[in-house]
Amino acid sequence: MPVTRPISLDDAEALTALLAENREFLAPWESVRDDGYFSLEGQREVLRGLVEVEHAGSGRAHVILDDEGSVVGRITLSGIVRGALQSCAVGYWVGSAHNGRGLATAAVGEMLQVAFTTLGLHRVQAETLLHNSASQAVLQRNGFTRFGMAPGYLKIAGRWQDHVMWQVLNPAADV
Ligand SMILES: CC(C)(COP(=O)(O)OP(=O)(O)OC[C@H]1O[C@@H](n2cnc3c(N)ncnc32)[C@H](O)[C@@H]1OP(=O)(O)O)[C@@H](O)C(=O)NCCC(=O)NCCS
Repeated sequence: MPVTRPISLDDAEALTALLAENREFLAPWESVRDDGYFSLEGQREVLRGLVEVEHAGSGRAHVILDDEGSVVGRITLSGIVRGALQSCAVGYWVGSAHNGRGLATAAVGEMLQVAFTTLGLHRVQAETLLHNSASQAVLQRNGFTRFGMAPGYLKIAGRWQDHVMWQVLNPAADV
């Protein structure tokens, strides 16, 4: 049973409710968001943006579902680059009430299938804060290997913070 499905504009209400519950939980791991981001209209705007990105061929977004089919998180492939790189980045979150059940691990596995099989990419990258052990465990269980540390890589929680860089290559040799 898949734990993700492609995101749709109809997910705005569920995501707004989930983000309201998880605003403090997510804050240390994300960019600073203004109040508008947490509103229903703000989430509709985010989802419209994700649909545009998909149409442009530069990303894919899925919602993460619990075993009853309720939306409990989001996972995104972004920054798809073709040419000699054939790569993208994966980012994800799961509501705190649903953590520790393997949902992020399974969701990353499903998005690797999208990246490697549907999109035919060669490589998927991820970045984690140095102390984000839960996310690092998710990546390692999906075959990601650490390839470096980027100083001041992303502005998270209002500060340019160092990140561990991770990648996994498409196991199909000639891709
Ligand atoms: C990171 C996150 C996605 C994990 O989601 P999840 O559905 O709980 O992940 P899983 O259940 O698949 O796996 C989590 C693993 O990390 C482990 N873990 C959790 N907290 C940990 C910690 N502080 N130290 C070490 N391991 C930890 C869990 O035990 C679990 O491993 P296990 O299955 O071997 O026990 C979720 O906590 C989250 O959304 N965090 C905030 C946003 C975020 O950090 N996103 C990723 C940015 S790179």
